[in-house]
Amino acid sequence: MKTFALFITISLSTLTVTSVAGKDTSKRSPQEMDKFITELMDKMTIEEKIGQLNLPVSGEITTGQAKSSDVARKIEQGLVGGLFNLKGVEKIRDVQKLAVENSRLGIPLIFGMDVIHGYETIFPIPLGLSCSWDMAAIEQSARIAAIEASADGISWTFSPMLDISRDPRWGRVSEGSGEDPFLGGAIAKAMVLGYQGADLNNQLGRNDEIMACFKHFALYGAGEAGRDYNTVDMSRNRMFNEYMYPYEAAVKAGAGSAMASFNEVDGVPATANKWLMTDVLRNQWGFDGFVVTDYTGISEMIEHGIGDLQTVSARALNAGIDMDMVSEGFVGTLKKSIDEGKVSIETLNTACRRMLEAKYKLGLFDDPYKYCDLKRPARDIFTKEHRQAARKIAGESFVLLKNSSTTPGSSAAPLLPLKKQGTVAVIGPLANTRSNMPGTWSVAARLNDYPSVYEGLKEVLAGKVNVTYAKGSNLISDAVYEEHATMFGRSLNRDNRTDQEMLDEALKVAAGADVIVAALGESSEMSGESSSRTNLNMPDVQRTLLEALLKTGKPVVLTLFTGRPLTLNWEQENVPAILNVWFGGSETAYAIADVLFGDVNPSGKLTMTFPKNVGQIPLFYNHKNTGRPLKEGKWFQKFRSNYLDVDNDPLYPFGYGLSYTTFQYSDIALSTPSMEHNGSVVASVTVTNTGKYDGAEVAQLYIRDLVGSITRPVKELKGFEKVFLKAGESKTISFEITPGLLSFYDYDLNYVAEPGDFDIMIGGNSRAVKTTRLTLR
Ligand code: BGC
Repeated sequence: MKTFALFITISLSTLTVTSVAGKDTSKRSPQEMDKFITELMDKMTIEEKIGQLNLPVSGEITTGQAKSSDVARKIEQGLVGGLFNLKGVEKIRDVQKLAVENSRLGIPLIFGMDVIHGYETIFPIPLGLSCSWDMAAIEQSARIAAIEASADGISWTFSPMLDISRDPRWGRVSEGSGEDPFLGGAIAKAMVLGYQGADLNNQLGRNDEIMACFKHFALYGAGEAGRDYNTVDMSRNRMFNEYMYPYEAAVKAGAGSAMASFNEVDGVPATANKWLMTDVLRNQWGFDGFVVTDYTGISEMIEHGIGDLQTVSARALNAGIDMDMVSEGFVGTLKKSIDEGKVSIETLNTACRRMLEAKYKLGLFDDPYKYCDLKRPARDIFTKEHRQAARKIAGESFVLLKNSSTTPGSSAAPLLPLKKQGTVAVIGPLANTRSNMPGTWSVAARLNDYPSVYEGLKEVLAGKVNVTYAKGSNLISDAVYEEHATMFGRSLNRDNRTDQEMLDEALKVAAGADVIVAALGESSEMSGESSSRTNLNMPDVQRTLLEALLKTGKPVVLTLFTGRPLTLNWEQENVPAILNVWFGGSETAYAIADVLFGDVNPSGKLTMTFPKNVGQIPLFYNHKNTGRPLKEGKWFQKFRSNYLDVDNDPLYPFGYGLSYTTFQYSDIALSTPSMEHNGSVVASVTVTNTGKYDGAEVAQLYIRDLVGSITRPVKELKGFEKVFLKAGESKTISFEITPGLLSFYDYDLNYVAEPGDFDIMIGGNSRAVKTTRLTLR
């Protein structure tokens, strides 16, 4: 529905202008957009142009009181381009009204938020979501997030996060899609289409489609030592072959905006890096959206040591940044830089134009209240359908890491799935917390409205299973650490009893149970931003609890909460069943019930390698061979690339995840053993469900370029397909291999497919593959 708001004429001392809001700009051609914006910019003062580039802190804005907030004054002066992380459609409408009615030109604001994995209906953390390998489900999660956020006034989300990372010490791996660029690119596309709309020619046309902002451009996941915000230094070769693909995929999918990363790239902070922001992003990839800095990204360059606020603000704009998040370096200094000739008016115009274009594409000039339909929240947010979808996707994101019988070495049936009978004791610091279920970066979450594991299991299993509970331990013995790991309303209500008292209570509850579900691991804020760790073991008191539970002789399922790969050697050795549930979002508890009790067969596969110890990090499947590789199956060989104290293998490899059933792969059939440079070859395998349960399998295609002009990885993911197979059923899966799929960036960064031999590998994880050989002529 278009609304044609009245044109508002405001007389100022020297100027009489007409508000632009309310003009119908929908469905106009790019030429018409240019004309509209040119005419608007002709009316703008330098200060107003700079104002469009400003994204300040919203401060406390209360519904009905928007006018009295500090930011209101700036909005009325035309010194604000947008606001972020304001929640509530009425509040947002009030603020929009200020911009439209009280600022000289009535240019609408853009309202952003970190809608990272859902809005009020929360989906699994992105790392978990990626383990579903289900692009339709991932796109649907973004679609639902867009519907809910847009119903609440939001038109722009700071998502998807596309930073490839190989370092689980970095807490923000929870926000990304793991270590693989090919998968990361597919997910980037799915997310952008989910947010902005799948029809590339008509994205953002609807009022339930919102603008994506892919981040953090670039290489933020490669910080030294896994420490957040740390320095990145990387060859261009590695950048383009191993890190850039997901960002480029987001550009291709039409992402309307990008966010600069905090880190430096090649010695220059990304926020001032012209090569990155202009040469690569715009000139090489053709990005035509706008670039926003990350939070205080501009003023942080003073700490980086490249100048004062005026200098770094000018450098950012000159590099190709369009919007300044929070620093207020642009509003504070750009005018002076223009007067001093340090920034040209053309550069300012370009950035201002990009901001106005974004608002135009969103349809905000047509209807500034497009996202402010007061009837929508009740209808569109946290609905039954959305929650059902979230529950299904959560189940798909879980990764079954181990499932054996309770007697080691016996041929008895594996512990999972559990039978719906008897008494199940849910024990652990993560067992009865609501606020930790959604996981990190869930800004709009209704923290008290999602069931805890204990509550969810009780509800789902009512009348069949008696569910009991004990906390068993705190998160970690160090109270200060626990406080840091449970911020933002995610308290685990630290227990003041002694460790022994808590343990005794847990053992009493365990004594009355047939099965123990141990809900252990990280709290939600133990991963995410500013949550780097150097020790990735199960926290001390939780390990003691787990040992004591195992000693009872009862069957124990470790239901593992985590936002990152942990080091779980002891657990793998000693616990019969481990289900990694990440943080599954608002419906976590129900999804856990579905999977533990066999209504859903787990199908998640890891998208990040689990190392055996922290010293192996960075450990990733697509590494290079080196000149001194370790022989297959060996641990230590003198003068080979290895360690004295641990082998080179991960605990769980990339692509790994078990099911309640088993799958068998046939040998690979190639349509022809060789391929011309302009041709293609089809590689097929037959996958058979050889177990007793129906289930889904993710078949993965890897290649190895055996001889290159530069060294090539031992394996690279180049395709995947998730298939559902009934017990006993077989399906043939085919992958088309084209020269494009075999291409890489050579030494001079040309994208080439070099003739020669390639290993073609297909299997259920990066370690278990069938292999054949293909020659490219
Ligand atoms: C994070 C971004 C986020 C921004 C806005 C920053 O601290 O790095 O990912 O989008 O804050 O909340």
